[in-house]
Amino acid sequence: QKTAPMPDDIRAMKGGTPIVSLTAYTTPMAQMMDGVCDFVLVGDSVGMVLHGLPSTLGVTMEMMTLHGAAVARGLTKSLLVVDMPFGSYEESPEQAFRNAAALMRDTSAGAVKLEGGTHMAETIAFLVARGVPVMAHIGLTPQSINTLGGYKVQGRDDQAEQLRADARAVSDAGAFSVVLEKVPATLADTITGEITIPTIGIGASPNCDGQILVVDDMLGLFTAFKPKFVKRFGTLGDDGRAAIRAYADEVRARSFPAAEHTFSDKAPTK
Ligand code: KIV
Ligand code: NA
Repeated sequence: QKTAPMPDDIRAMKGGTPIVSLTAYTTPMAQMMDGVCDFVLVGDSVGMVLHGLPSTLGVTMEMMTLHGAAVARGLTKSLLVVDMPFGSYEESPEQAFRNAAALMRDTSAGAVKLEGGTHMAETIAFLVARGVPVMAHIGLTPQSINTLGGYKVQGRDDQAEQLRADARAVSDAGAFSVVLEKVPATLADTITGEITIPTIGIGASPNCDGQILVVDDMLGLFTAFKPKFVKRFGTLGDDGRAAIRAYADEVRARSFPAAEHTFSDKAPTK
């Protein structure tokens, strides 16, 4: 019986078979990927994907706690990682520890993820020294969308050096892995070769040490827009719309419920 990997086990997958991961926000979705993914991330993308928010900036600790606990109930064989929401960790290492500890306590997550490179290194070291494994997230960091000026590719041209420095900083600070989002493939490869912790790509490179996607994107369930780096492996959005249309037609035609879905007035004899 396989048990869930720990952050150190994920770290040890550097350079080996690629690390497989997806986001999840609910128990049934977590159950579908349990043991198939090495780790499952309760991303703050939950705000856009499940709550209809325009960005991840409106996501709260309460939302991360409720969805984190729901996902935890669906996992026994994959590591659970929970995103720290905007405003819950940037102020100081102490603030970050207080909120990371609350998330780990209330969700039973084995690690947290936070956005930022060089400027978050001190906080990452502070958390790791106090028992909080940290996954870093650099490149396109959606919580900084207002200062980045949009969902642009990060690390092109003269930005490349800064991104390499960010990767080294989070690795040196003790992060057990780092997400690289929307960065040029060649830069992702350079970074993957330069640091000792696994890189988890999303819109990065097949040579990263692992990959992650937002599960609703890859299932074709979230269809409001599709980033270039998303591949739809399923058509659940289309399937769902067709099923709802078929249900509506059958209700209006009185062909649902059929006899097999209704109950007789006599108790069945044993
Ligand atoms: O919130 C999220 O889903 C993420 C992943 C896309 C890395 O941060
Ligand atoms: Na996120």
